[in-house]
Amino acid sequence: MALISLRQLLDHAGEHGYGMPAFNITNLETLQAVMAAADKTNSPVLLQASRSARKYIDDTILKHLFMGAIERYPHLPVCLHLDHGNDLSTCSSAMDFGFSSVMMDGSLMADAKTPSDFDYNAEVTSNVVELAHSRGISVEGESGVLGSLETGEGEKEDGHGFEGKLGKDMLLTDPEEAERFVRATGIDALAVAVGTSHGAYKFSRRPSGDILAMSVIEKIHERLPNTHLVMHGASSVPEELQQLINAHGGFIPETFGVPLEEVERGIKSGVRKINIDTDIRMAMTGSIRKFLDENRSSFDVRAILGPGRERATNLCAKRNEIFGCAGMADKIKPVSLQTMADRYAGGLYDTTKG
Ligand code: G3H
Ligand code: 13P
Ligand code: ZN
Repeated sequence: MALISLRQLLDHAGEHGYGMPAFNITNLETLQAVMAAADKTNSPVLLQASRSARKYIDDTILKHLFMGAIERYPHLPVCLHLDHGNDLSTCSSAMDFGFSSVMMDGSLMADAKTPSDFDYNAEVTSNVVELAHSRGISVEGESGVLGSLETGEGEKEDGHGFEGKLGKDMLLTDPEEAERFVRATGIDALAVAVGTSHGAYKFSRRPSGDILAMSVIEKIHERLPNTHLVMHGASSVPEELQQLINAHGGFIPETFGVPLEEVERGIKSGVRKINIDTDIRMAMTGSIRKFLDENRSSFDVRAILGPGRERATNLCAKRNEIFGCAGMADKIKPVSLQTMADRYAGGLYDTTKG
């Protein structure tokens, strides 16, 4: 079984200078799409599920879906990651369910709505790190709060993210604070706030440096050259998918995502994990709309969902190629979580040194 930790995967990505798309899966078809894309491109796999995806699918069923995917593709190293864990118990239940990596998002309080402060974030994240590392499981933490630099607002679409408006002091990760946070917690990867937000409505225009602050990533990388950085809200929101949805009865007002070239720029400055959910949702939605529009008498859900699964597969394969993880799967020799636990206990991983 090729279950691997985030730490092993991102260390490999760092060593070879590539980025790993972290694809959110929300149902069977999105999982199949991510796995098929990895198989096509010989890529390692970074599968992530949010709290709401866990709830939607059901933890027990999700566990078997994940294990089934790993069994079906034994030649692919797979990391199973919890996206945006909100407290210790959510993270610890994910560990019990077989995730090899968790995100403790302490940038917000456990309600996932109220911005927290440094001390709270450092403490809750350190607690998760202690538990996770003793089991060889990796931890992603976050410094700074995700939200739009254009509007000062968080995400609304999925009902999580902070409420109200925040200033740039909160919406941009402070490099000095990021360094203190990594030292205080011992996390394996650091999510940063640079103006990206979740969902399709990220930017009202093609983003320039004032609303997508890639220079902040570069500053953090200068301070923490060995820390793996994570970009959330990194979907590119392709124009052709907006058009596809709108051509078949949908309504996506003009919007812009994170251009792929900006992600490539980030990869040159230590970005190793690139979170993508919205693009997969849009590929599925556009294809479903098109199929239903063109086949009005169809009610076979396999026929309805199949083209979306194929479009999502092609999208994921393209991301694997552009971010450079294509061709890397067979270069990774899986290290067991037990060995990872021994390595943590031996003090082998300290991203603030070296
Ligand atoms: O965290 C953001 C991801 O896009 C997950 O969203 O909570 O609707 O699954 P979700
Ligand atoms: P997108 O909404 O841009 O796909 O971001 C997903 C994400 O960051 C999940 O944590
Ligand atoms: Zn996110």
